[in-house]
Amino acid sequence: MLKSLKSNDDLVAMKEACEEKFKSDKVRVYVCMTGCRALGAEEVYGEFQKQVKTQGLEDKVEVVETGCQGLCAKAPVMTIDPPGIFYGRVSVDSVPEIISSTILKGEVINKLCYAESGKKIPYMKDIPFYNRQQKVVLRNCGVIDPKNVEHYIARKGYEGLARALFHLPPEGIIKEIENSGLRGRGGGGFPTGTKWGFVRKAKSDIKYIVCNADEGDPGAFMDRAILEGDPHAVVEGMITAAFAIGANKGFVYVRAEYPIAVDHLEFAIHQARQLNLLGDNILGSGFNFDLEIKKGAGAFVCGEETALIASIEGKRGMPRPRPPFPAISGLWQKPTNINNVETFANVPLIMQHGSEWYKQFGTKNGSGTKIFALAGNVKNTGLVEVPMGTTLREIVFDIGGGIPGRRQFKAAQMGGPSGGCVPAEHLDLPIDYESVKEVGAIMGSGGLIVMDEKTSMVEIARYFMEFVQEESCGKCGPCRIGTKRMLEVLTRLVAGNGCREDIEDLTKMAHVTKNASLCGLGQTAPNPVLSTIRFFLKEFEELIP
Ligand SMILES: Cc1cc2nc3c(=O)[nH]c(=O)nc-3n(C[C@H](O)[C@H](O)[C@H](O)COP(=O)(O)O)c2cc1C
Ligand code: SF4
Ligand code: FES
Repeated sequence: MLKSLKSNDDLVAMKEACEEKFKSDKVRVYVCMTGCRALGAEEVYGEFQKQVKTQGLEDKVEVVETGCQGLCAKAPVMTIDPPGIFYGRVSVDSVPEIISSTILKGEVINKLCYAESGKKIPYMKDIPFYNRQQKVVLRNCGVIDPKNVEHYIARKGYEGLARALFHLPPEGIIKEIENSGLRGRGGGGFPTGTKWGFVRKAKSDIKYIVCNADEGDPGAFMDRAILEGDPHAVVEGMITAAFAIGANKGFVYVRAEYPIAVDHLEFAIHQARQLNLLGDNILGSGFNFDLEIKKGAGAFVCGEETALIASIEGKRGMPRPRPPFPAISGLWQKPTNINNVETFANVPLIMQHGSEWYKQFGTKNGSGTKIFALAGNVKNTGLVEVPMGTTLREIVFDIGGGIPGRRQFKAAQMGGPSGGCVPAEHLDLPIDYESVKEVGAIMGSGGLIVMDEKTSMVEIARYFMEFVQEESCGKCGPCRIGTKRMLEVLTRLVAGNGCREDIEDLTKMAHVTKNASLCGLGQTAPNPVLSTIRFFLKEFEELIP
């Protein structure tokens, strides 16, 4: 049972005690126990624990379960610190050798090391995948045990909240977030401080705060990784936002297909309640706030904020027209602030270090960093965090390691079903909200799917259309009928049964669907089609008999 913290002094004392507790000369073995479980991480972790115990190494070695360490392509992965060695494709059979050679004798096991151009790179700090990134929001992911709040607090967790509660008025917090330039990471890029300001100003006795953890884009797992690897960062961001806007109740809407994220979040909420970081009179500040988890059934449309609100209220998850925006009339018609998981996870850092510090990362159009889920035809698939303004080339080639099998890069699909394909000619585009829009894609929430020369771009357009057609809620005609008709044409084209008029018809239907649909799903559903027609028209024409 954790001791309730009655004041900021209690929090400071706990931080100092946690720092002391983890200050040891033990070797730490960090095992990713989230996505890597699919390839045996749990067994590897269990074997480490067993071996450490049977060999009487408890005083020398500590085995820590962590969230995603980024290089998911090498799953199951682990790090040994000191000396900072990264091993991938670890198996239960490799555990005895890792202990006897690496941990006890400091010897590197070559076959478990990351390799580039045939060269083995044992140390994490030398691996380009890691040293070309800037882990700011993901600073704790892969380094702390997400189920142990003491790890979070030892690394200055809840320090930002304390500054917000005791040193700034609510308007001052909003000003700090505005000055930081933080924009919503859920896809739209709306300025976060401005949104908080609207809800703060809305007159109501009850206000709500909601975290959107629906994450339905194919290939995207940024939000899942944050919740699995550092759930307290989201909880802290939400408490701070709630205090700023004047809300006493919050919800995290998370898809039920994310059981580890839900489990870690439940743990975090339980621990925060025990520590008096949630509940009545938080840290003795007089502020009351509590959080509840609502599990979604996995409909993509439920990520749209008005559908999400309906779903939390127990209704069918269908969008409604806006205005009124949720900031004015949201959950149960009360002013509601909705932000994405990554948006909230940025907040503790801004509160802790200030907006000027935060603005050192990124560009004028977007400050801070962005997390991408790198997938598709790229060597180092995984979780990547870079400052806004990093080029696609740096992400795909320097960090991602390039395209496997000596094939050529063709395009990167950004922004999922609402986004578009960025072709090779724009590889040097610095990625921020505005620049990506100029080439017909969107930054989106961070899904980045790399495609090589063998990929059929018409098939990609068809794939995304099939996805949105299945996910369309059917409420309005342009989206319900438009996506169906576009899918028919694309299927015909892919099968080689199309005709010349099909491309023109597709473009017309795409514009009507974009302009006449009720919600963002239909308004952006044609984007993948339009962007492939724009950059890969020849591929469409070649399919016409
Ligand atoms: C079809 C559709 C799906 C969406 N899915 C998500 C989602 O999974 N997560 C998310 O944060 N935002 C999603 N959004 C955007 C949300 O409606 C909303 O703008 C966002 O949660 C606001 O948070 P932010 O300002 O922090 O980005 C979606 C929008 C649409 C139209
Ligand atoms: S645009 Fe599509 S998803 Fe949105 S309300 Fe209309 S039918 Fe439903
Ligand atoms: S899930 Fe294990 S490294 Fe990403």
